[in-house]
Amino acid sequence: MTNRSLAKAPADTTILVTGGAGFIGSHTVVELLDAGYRVIVLDDLSNSCEESLDRVRQICELPAEDQPGGDRLQFVHASLFDADVLEELFSAQDVDAIIHFAGFKAVGESVAKPLEYYWNNIAGTLELVRVAREHDVKNLVFSSSATVYGDPDEVPITELAPKRPATNPYGQTKSMLEQILSDLYAGDPEWNIVLLRYFNPIGAHESGLIGEDPRGIPNNLVPYVAKVAVGKLPELNVFGDDYPTSDGTGVRDYIHVVDLARGHVAALDWMAGRVGAPSSEEPAQDPYSINGEQTADGCRRGVGVFNLGTGTGSSVLDVVRAFERACGHGIPYAIQPRRAGDIAECYAACDKAREQLGWQAEYDLDRMCQDSWRWQSMNPDGYRA
Ligand code: UD1
Repeated sequence: MTNRSLAKAPADTTILVTGGAGFIGSHTVVELLDAGYRVIVLDDLSNSCEESLDRVRQICELPAEDQPGGDRLQFVHASLFDADVLEELFSAQDVDAIIHFAGFKAVGESVAKPLEYYWNNIAGTLELVRVAREHDVKNLVFSSSATVYGDPDEVPITELAPKRPATNPYGQTKSMLEQILSDLYAGDPEWNIVLLRYFNPIGAHESGLIGEDPRGIPNNLVPYVAKVAVGKLPELNVFGDDYPTSDGTGVRDYIHVVDLARGHVAALDWMAGRVGAPSSEEPAQDPYSINGEQTADGCRRGVGVFNLGTGTGSSVLDVVRAFERACGHGIPYAIQPRRAGDIAECYAACDKAREQLGWQAEYDLDRMCQDSWRWQSMNPDGYRA
């Protein structure tokens, strides 16, 4: 069996994006279409809306799917467990690579529903790669998380930092899937895997048409702040002001979702051998990266591991102030005890992605908050308006 080659123009390359209707997925679809790729989104809409893809069409000025040229973006409403649908999709379409976002992602919920999280995230991925392998599709970009580093010994966190046990099943699924996908390559070196470890994605497309649309009360900081700013929630709870950080609140590496999305396009370029140094020049000491050979067509084989962050840490209060500047009014907040499982400080070393992928984040925290605010104020009820 051989792997499908990525050594061709994006216009001739089809990317299957699982979870492509979601927050990071929809922004990545925009960047893929802008780069000229053909895209098939597979999504069960369990935590997203098809409306996001209509908005993507608007942003990219694509006609409807049944109109000429409109099939550069196709949507398949199915879950990773719909084996017949997956089989039919891979049989009917020349999928060249997969970007795999589909998965449950709420930390607190994962503690209450471990079985659902392990089943959906792990078994779902196994199903996906099983069917993909049967059709010789062995190029895969996986949506991982900085959560695999646990509480790091030092910041900024490089890809060489040891992985630590996650404090919740959601984080465990990310860590376990990194291992499973690496084992896949070890057993069959035709696979080409990129593990992208995201720091804290926020912001929205500058059009205000797509953004993060959490169901219920948000768990994450910026969606919560945005709901307070728009008047849907009374005040922000700041979880702890006694951390050993500049102002005592937790420090994170917030990254604009559009920058993050572009990181996925860069990962495809890397797989295709269009960017990055030859594998012999790559650092050998990274325990989680396996640098395979470049094949005759110039494409890479191996496991590439990259942090996607900005390299800048911001505290909870830095975020509050940036959001206040963006929305033009105060954000009421109250200091609360620390949240279980939180760490003091987490931000990325981004040198590897810059050197190997030729990618780096462009947007700062003010811009992230301006774009979050535009999305939130244009869509106070998300896609359900
Ligand atoms: C969390 C997850 C991480 C996941 C990421 C997805 C935990 C421990 N980690 O990261 O695994 O990949 O979301 O986006 O849940 N904060 C408040 N008030 C709030 C919400 C958050 O003060 O209402 C603070 C937190 O204490 C933290 C910072 O804001 O210091 C960021 O929190 P959050 O947005 O939830 O992200 P993480 O916890 O970093």
